[in-house]
Amino acid sequence: MSEPIRVVVTGAAGQIAYSLLYMIAKGDVFGADQTLILHLLDIVPMAGVLEGVVMELADCALPLLRQVVPTTDPAVAFKDVSAAFLVGAMPRKEGMERKDLLASNVTIFKAQGEALDKYAKKDVKVLVVGNPANTNALVCSHYAPSIPRENFTAMTRLDQNRARAHIAVKVNVPVDDVKNVIIWGNHSATQFPDAKHATAKIGLVEKSVYDAINNQSYLEEDFVSIIQKRGAAVIAARKMSSAMSAAKAASDHMKDWWNGTSPGNFVSMAVVSDGSYGVPKDIVFSFPVEIKNKEWTIVQGLDVDEFARSKLEVTSQELLEEKEEAMAVCSQD
Ligand code: NAI
Repeated sequence: MSEPIRVVVTGAAGQIAYSLLYMIAKGDVFGADQTLILHLLDIVPMAGVLEGVVMELADCALPLLRQVVPTTDPAVAFKDVSAAFLVGAMPRKEGMERKDLLASNVTIFKAQGEALDKYAKKDVKVLVVGNPANTNALVCSHYAPSIPRENFTAMTRLDQNRARAHIAVKVNVPVDDVKNVIIWGNHSATQFPDAKHATAKIGLVEKSVYDAINNQSYLEEDFVSIIQKRGAAVIAARKMSSAMSAAKAASDHMKDWWNGTSPGNFVSMAVVSDGSYGVPKDIVFSFPVEIKNKEWTIVQGLDVDEFARSKLEVTSQELLEEKEEAMAVCSQD
């Protein structure tokens, strides 16, 4: 067994964390040989709930979990962490404008960026789940200048998992036999779920999903819209937002970042744009990436046709607007 690593989960008293903490603590993310010290951060009014979560983690009797540190102090939460799951965020309340939500969250992610900068390991891997995830990741990175920008990512893996599962049902294969579905852009309704480069193993043959489904308008209209609206459909049914699936996606995202992707497979992660595929630089944009030695690289050379280009432009525009609003809030301080 290796030395324990410190991992922080924020929003630790919330519903995503309730599933995520168990996945992390039993070894799904960092492996069955990696012992862990879990730091749980939430806000002061949730300290009592957090105690209950700590009790349940103890009662799981998990061999990899060496210590749990519940706290409401970012200085304690981010101290020496190797990985950070930033789940906690201000939820959207009735009557709240998108702008107000963004402003509240900018304040949270600014403070957490500063705390990461001061207290975390310099090679910390940061995954932002709390919405608006892409722009929160950008803000967080901005306030943590001593940590490489590549270490800040936002989650679009839930959208990827949804898209992959949808296609698996459509072509009637196990989900593992579908690969390389891409989510481009923002984790919002402007995201572009793209099956153009996806393949499915049908029988023993790897087939293009476009050929297998053979219905371009379905793939470019219905499929795109179903995945874009899947979160809202879950809320309508459950009266609460996706939590188990969001936790699984966060676990998948960090697991791949930590361990790498297998040859020929790529995954979608929102990362700082370097201008690839004509996307504006310096926004946190979901791209297809491959990962080796804990470093992601954007997959290059995929064909982006006119239809895809128009979708990329819409989601880029939204991210540019979010960035502008976020930076305006930051500059008020
Ligand atoms: P929740 O409301 O159940 O839990 C959020 C927790 O964060 C609460 O315990 C709250 O007290 C805490 N929190 C608020 N401010 C905090 C701060 N400054 N520091 C630490 N903790 C803080 O919400 P849930 O369902 O767990 O979702 C969390 C976030 O994840 C939301 O922003 C949601 O929109 C987002 N989300 C993102 C997805 C994605 O694919 N990127 C998918 C699903 C949800």
